[in-house]
Amino acid sequence: MTLPQTTPLQIGPHTVTPPVVLAPMAGITNAPFRTLCREFSGGKGLFVSEMITTRALVERNEKTMQLVHFDASEKPRSIQLYGVDPSTVGKAVRMIADEDLADHVDLNFGCPVPKVTRKGGGSALPYKRHLLRAILREAVGNAGSLPVTIKMRKGIDDDHLTYLDAGRIAVEEGVTAVALHGRTASQHYGGTADWDAIARLKEAVTEIPVLGNGDIWCADDAVRMMRETGCDGVVVGRGCLGRPWLFGDLVNAFEGGAGQARPTLREVTAVMRRHAELLGEWLGDERRGVIDFRKHVAWYTKGFALGAQSRQRLALSSSLAELDEHLGALDLDQPWPDGAEGPRGRTAGTKRVVLPDGWLGDPYDTTVAVDADAESDTSGG
Ligand SMILES: Cc1cc2nc3c(=O)[nH]c(=O)nc-3n(C[C@H](O)[C@H](O)[C@H](O)COP(=O)(O)O)c2cc1C
Repeated sequence: MTLPQTTPLQIGPHTVTPPVVLAPMAGITNAPFRTLCREFSGGKGLFVSEMITTRALVERNEKTMQLVHFDASEKPRSIQLYGVDPSTVGKAVRMIADEDLADHVDLNFGCPVPKVTRKGGGSALPYKRHLLRAILREAVGNAGSLPVTIKMRKGIDDDHLTYLDAGRIAVEEGVTAVALHGRTASQHYGGTADWDAIARLKEAVTEIPVLGNGDIWCADDAVRMMRETGCDGVVVGRGCLGRPWLFGDLVNAFEGGAGQARPTLREVTAVMRRHAELLGEWLGDERRGVIDFRKHVAWYTKGFALGAQSRQRLALSSSLAELDEHLGALDLDQPWPDGAEGPRGRTAGTKRVVLPDGWLGDPYDTTVAVDADAESDTSGG
């Protein structure tokens, strides 16, 4: 596949080559998962943390502070924040800058979860242009030399698109780059991502890099997205679930290489084991690590002939010894199955977007404020 013409992706002072970014995924892109992805990419690319809510950060919530954890070798350290109140967002960004907690701040405006949009948060928020602007102004104004980027969806639904306005507002407020997931909130994860919208945003926003996101399942998809949309970089989420070696494929493809990793089940289980171990070290508790790892089992084993019982046993392991026993009992010589290709993770489709009463009334309302409870969900994007 012909490589797109690219200039290096610049996120403030950070040059990202090749221009590939691990999408923030709540509950997934913690330090252990980022370590695995970075190992496969040879350290190339940008790896964004799980989403961290600004209020909890400012209040130094214990669990939240654990999420603000980077391996000593992780450079640049990329943190994603989610907040609905300009002042709290500003305080959180200042805290990150003053305490040297990260090298890059990304702001999440893509969450479609009803609990969040019901209050006007997440992907509902950019509809209120002044509130979006106020949040970005506080974030950039408090960031010192840290670059601030935003990640968003196309809008609430096809009749209420916000991404082009949000892109312009981001430029005007000094944001360093914008990433677009080519779906509306009402699409959730259904259908296919609209890469044309990424191209439209790239046409409208010429001053800062535009990153494309949505439905990159293999390295060829990433190259194709760059070529078809003209975007400056790609953000890859679900394609990496249970498949951190995709980052090796991405780097290889952008460096002109061909082919993709096709690990055998033996090789896959070695990565699974390491993932569980890293989670245990990060959480300071082997059992908690193995339990947290359970959610990854189905993704890692997708397409392999395991049988429901083995899958279930793996997903119920509570210690590394148990995990080893169950992994060891599998037919490890299985080659990489074709069934492992294509979509993985959430794919559920259209839902009505729950919004506060009257939310769609005046997009330029200057008085709107969002209840801080809209930060209480942590399920992400
Ligand atoms: C489990 C999960 C958690 C997510 N959490 C976040 C998040 O915390 N912040 C965010 O901006 N997006 C989040 N997202 C959305 C992804 O970053 C990405 O935009 C979306 O999955 C589309 O990209 P993909 O098709 O490459 O997966 C999440 C997605 C999934 C599947």
